[in-house]
Amino acid sequence: MAIEAFAPAKINLTLHVTGQRADGYHLLDSLVMFADVGDTVGLVEGQGLSLRVTGPAAEGVPTGPENSILKAAGFAGQTDLAFSLNKVLPSAAGIGGGTSDAAAALRAISALRGVSLPPDTLPLGADVPVCMLGTAARMRGVGGQVTPVQGLPRLHAVLVNPRISVPTPSVFKALTDKNNPPMLKTLPALKTATDFAAWLSEQRNDLQAPAIAAAPVIADVLGVLRAQTGRLLTRMSGSGATCFALFETEEAARVAALKIQRSHPQWWVAPCQLS
Ligand code: C5P
Repeated sequence: MAIEAFAPAKINLTLHVTGQRADGYHLLDSLVMFADVGDTVGLVEGQGLSLRVTGPAAEGVPTGPENSILKAAGFAGQTDLAFSLNKVLPSAAGIGGGTSDAAAALRAISALRGVSLPPDTLPLGADVPVCMLGTAARMRGVGGQVTPVQGLPRLHAVLVNPRISVPTPSVFKALTDKNNPPMLKTLPALKTATDFAAWLSEQRNDLQAPAIAAAPVIADVLGVLRAQTGRLLTRMSGSGATCFALFETEEAARVAALKIQRSHPQWWVAPCQLS
């Protein structure tokens, strides 16, 4: 039997760093949604563990045991599986690429073999639990406290990565103030994208400033997104370097994506919907 699992881009609409644990991990309060753009993980029975990577972002992606998919397979106690990965998302980009692949691999393994997974997935990545859920959620603790959020409007967005990878640990390390306020109160009812964006504009990504200090091109990406017609909100996702803008309409997002890709052919630009 062949199984396919979609590994969507994970977008941190907000990312508040509210503290740090004694083991160095940071405490977060983050609202996450998922894009309809992402990687695809395929899985069939095999002899030993193997991985074949194809797709527009395949270059440089490891196919050995350091790949998050094979780590996930080992973590789930598997020894004989053949994986394929259609890699679309840029790596180390703040949109969960490797983590979303690992979560998709775990979902595929569970569907193929019916195995139950070890409960503590932190060794595979702090974002694995939210990526396993795959729908809009509030993420707290170091990432393991995931609460689904229902009733949010679908969002039209453009994702832009300047094709630089930003190592997450260095961005967390560069953050000087680690005790910031959490998101404002509980989430109010947000019916339209405009209301939602207005609420989001009062929240933050605390990693944005240290990421820009490490990679100033992120400020250029934000500036280009901010200049687009119909834009509602512009922000960086995760620890960067991918930034997103939300738009009033699908058409506005599509036009903005075309304009940005034309003026910056070297950047990765993806119009998408978030849900
Ligand atoms: O998400 P992932 O586990 O891959 O994170 C990579 C690194 O980012 C961690 O090893 C840690 O240094 C840092 N991190 C953190 N606090 C979190 C998530 C990640 O300090 N909540």
